[in-house]
Amino acid sequence: MDNVSVTESIGELPHGRPPQTEFDTGLDYPRLGSVTFRRGTLTENQQALFDEWWPRLGVVLENTEDEQHIDYDEWFGRAGHPTVVEIGSGTGTSTSAMAPLEADTNVIAVELYKPGLAKLLGSVVRGGIENIRMVRGDGVEVLARMIAPESLDGVRIFFPDPWPKARHHKRRIIQSGTLNLIATRLKPGGVLHVATDHADYAEWIDELVNVEPMLEYKGWPWENAPILTNRQVITKFEGKGLDKEHVIREYLWEKKNE
Ligand SMILES: C[S@@+](CC[C@H](N)C(=O)[O-])C[C@H]1O[C@@H](n2cnc3c(N)ncnc32)[C@H](O)[C@@H]1O
Repeated sequence: MDNVSVTESIGELPHGRPPQTEFDTGLDYPRLGSVTFRRGTLTENQQALFDEWWPRLGVVLENTEDEQHIDYDEWFGRAGHPTVVEIGSGTGTSTSAMAPLEADTNVIAVELYKPGLAKLLGSVVRGGIENIRMVRGDGVEVLARMIAPESLDGVRIFFPDPWPKARHHKRRIIQSGTLNLIATRLKPGGVLHVATDHADYAEWIDELVNVEPMLEYKGWPWENAPILTNRQVITKFEGKGLDKEHVIREYLWEKKNE
């Protein structure tokens, strides 16, 4: 492959819709709108940084049914550290603010939007942050196909897209099926942390806090949570929410031991 085609393909989602995992749980899973696969253009500087660093720090969910489980020890170059997945990391504001305070933890940021990943990559490289890696792909499919069962110490979903119109509620990522999938990926004692500033979405989550039997709802705050639960910063979206005097709601669950 010559340099040009390598550059063009770096960090790009494979053509076509990724295979959707057929879940046989009878639970609800988010339906992705086509908007979620939107392309984004990078600035020249971002592209150069992306080309240099993505191969080392990022991977793309492949369009294959084959198992793609990530080997955390190999990817992070260290053995036996706790691992947390953040779904929908956006531009990575929280991700890059939290990671240095949890240097012992491997942090995997999952996002579809390439410019967001490029921004996080910039923060990682400029800040010399060593414990962040990135996956480009749909969070549900990444959990199902790239994350081994009972391998995670935490899952974070901060300010997921609210999809306010009733006919789009089925696109919301917090659903009974996603909570079940997350529970299967968490180790016993692992933590799920969700935050939203959207009142209607908060009501939606309130209805679901006890729906997954493998997860014990801990509310907020949870003093002795085994992973970092202070998001450290006001993210871009949270900032917008606060401007409109929205209330931030946070949710924590623990994967049960049984
Ligand atoms: C409202 S933004 C919040 C971003 C960030 N967490 C923050 O607080 O600033 C939601 C993000 O989730 C991403 N997203 C939406 N659905 C996703 C999915 N199924 N898998 C991965 N990322 C997703 C969007 O691209 C967007 O960047």
